[in-house]
Amino acid sequence: MPFHVYAFDAYGTLFDVHAAVARHRDAIGPRAGELSSLWRSKQLEYTWVRTLAGRYRDFWTLTGEALDFAAAACGGLSPELRAALMRAYEQLDAYDDVRPALSTLRANGAKTAILSNGTPAMLDSAVKAARLGDVLDRVISVDGLGLYKARGEVYQLVCDAFTCPAAQVSFQSSNRWDIAGAAAFGFRTVWINRTGQGDEYADLPAALTLPSLAPLAGFDA
Ligand code: LAC
Repeated sequence: MPFHVYAFDAYGTLFDVHAAVARHRDAIGPRAGELSSLWRSKQLEYTWVRTLAGRYRDFWTLTGEALDFAAAACGGLSPELRAALMRAYEQLDAYDDVRPALSTLRANGAKTAILSNGTPAMLDSAVKAARLGDVLDRVISVDGLGLYKARGEVYQLVCDAFTCPAAQVSFQSSNRWDIAGAAAFGFRTVWINRTGQGDEYADLPAALTLPSLAPLAGFDA
């Protein structure tokens, strides 16, 4: 393998962030899709604002605050449904291509890791629910640092965990803004463009763009 470590974003890349709302779609009603999109976009906005303002609050808290904003904008949610959605967020579905990709990379001699904004408890729960613990060498959370992506200190956590330079890390994310941050830091970047989004951040390009994780190990073999 040309890279020592393959580090993966969690939410959107390994885990389907829309799986929580999908499980309760009927109870939520016709605005379920809008609720899920707004929940995700507010969750991310809150991470950027809190990092810029120097007012860290953990990702579980921000996920709840984002859900409350989205719910208010989409006609409200009962307390029971809110609690069910938060519980579902702790046990999101992993995409089908995740386990085969991680297993193949490890079989080929690479180390695998999650690098995520999620709290250690959220990530532990998601990894357990998706039964991915045996194909991940490390699960790295920003929480101890108190800063969110796309700060360079966050990407540095991977280099610290594996005692390796940025040039030996391949970083995979479905979030184009996260790829921009990782490219600025010096990782080899692979944009997993699952939904056919247009490209952006032209001066911070992905080294490779793939439609899913499936071709990753073959590409680097
Ligand atoms: C994460 C978010 C950004 O897992 O998807 O870090």
